[in-house]
Formats: sequence, C-alpha cells, structure tokens
Amino acid sequence: MLIVLATKNQHKIKEIKEILGADIHYQTLSDYLNIDIKEAGRTLMENSLAKATFTFKVSGKPSLADDSGLFVEALDGEPGIHSSRYGIDDEHRITKLLKNLGTKKNRKALFKAVFVYYYALNKYEVFEGECAGEIAYEPCGTEGFGYDPIFMPGKYKKTFAQLGQKVKNRISHRTKALTKFKKYLQRDF
Ligand code: IMP
Repeated sequence: MLIVLATKNQHKIKEIKEILGADIHYQTLSDYLNIDIKEAGRTLMENSLAKATFTFKVSGKPSLADDSGLFVEALDGEPGIHSSRYGIDDEHRITKLLKNLGTKKNRKALFKAVFVYYYALNKYEVFEGECAGEIAYEPCGTEGFGYDPIFMPGKYKKTFAQLGQKVKNRISHRTKALTKFKKYLQRDF
C-alpha cells in the first residue's frame, strides 16, 4: 500500500518509517508540491486534519499527517501547539523553554502526537499518542530532534537524545499513536 506523508520534517519522516515498517510504500507532500502548510488551528487535531486533508486533495492518495507538541505543566501547557514556532530554531526553542521554566520544581511535561489518516473524500481516522516525562535542567545528548535533548521520558533520568532512537521508538508519543494506526490498517486489509 501507498501512503503520502504530510510533512517535510525529515526526522519525523524517518521515525514514522521506522515505526510503521517497510511493508508500506511512502511518498511525501514534497513529491507533489513544494509548500509549507500554515498551522492555523487551535488544537493538534485541527492542524493535523488540515495537513492530511490538504495532502489528500493534492495527491489524491491516502495521506497521513502528524501534528505534535510538548506540553509543559508549569508553563500552562506551553509551548504546546506552538512547539514548532516557539523560537527560530531548535536551539532557541530549548533555551527559551529552559529560561521560562527556570528552577521550578515541577518539571512535568507531556509529548503529544495526533495523526490523521485521510483516505477518501471526507473520510478520515484519528490516532493519538502521549508520552509523559520531565524537563531536564540542561540539554543533554545528540540523537533525535526538536526538544529531545531536554525531555526525559517516564522514570528515565536520561533525555530522549541520550537514550537514542531505538529506545525512543519503543515508548514515544509517535510510537503510541502509530501502533494504533498499525492495528487499524491490519484490521482493514
Ligand atoms: P509540528 O507537528 O510540525 O507542528 O511540529 C511539532 C514540533 O514539536 C517540532 O518542530 C518539534 O519541535 C516538537 N516535537 C514534536 N515531536 C517531537 C519529538 O518526538 N521530539 C522532539 N521534539 C518534538
């Protein structure tokens, strides 16, 4: 089967392919159009649905979108849906988040991913995943992307960037959502 991924983020593309496996043939929106889809929604779901709908309309093929973000409890859920726009690049975003959090004791945070699989006109399914953890006091590790150097999942005292891709792909928000998607595909085919 063929799925068009509604993202340009190479890290997300790599993770999605690793998690879903090689039985699927992948294309990306960039195979059809060179465009950045604006995120104008108020929720991850709205953004994900907009990306999947657009990609389906452009490609005419089943499309899968991922909108994700990091929700920090002591920052009232910020950066949340603004995760990709919280600063000009990953380094600025991390510096800003650590500065805003300061030395606060409550460092609880939640990574959330909302996938929308848009497979025919006005027909779609939603798959959500969460990964709870804590924000480190300083960036550590070199693997992954985005906020991985400051997010310590579950009871781990290491960040996603230190734990590496193998461990991340066992427990991440993306894995949890895509495991539901995989089950849905297996039920259908
Ligand atoms: P969007 O889904 O394209 O809006 O981007 C979400 C943003 O959240 C990314 O640019 C990253 O900064 C961050 N993010 C989402 N998932 C992850 C992850 O697995 N690790 C680190 N950062 C992530």
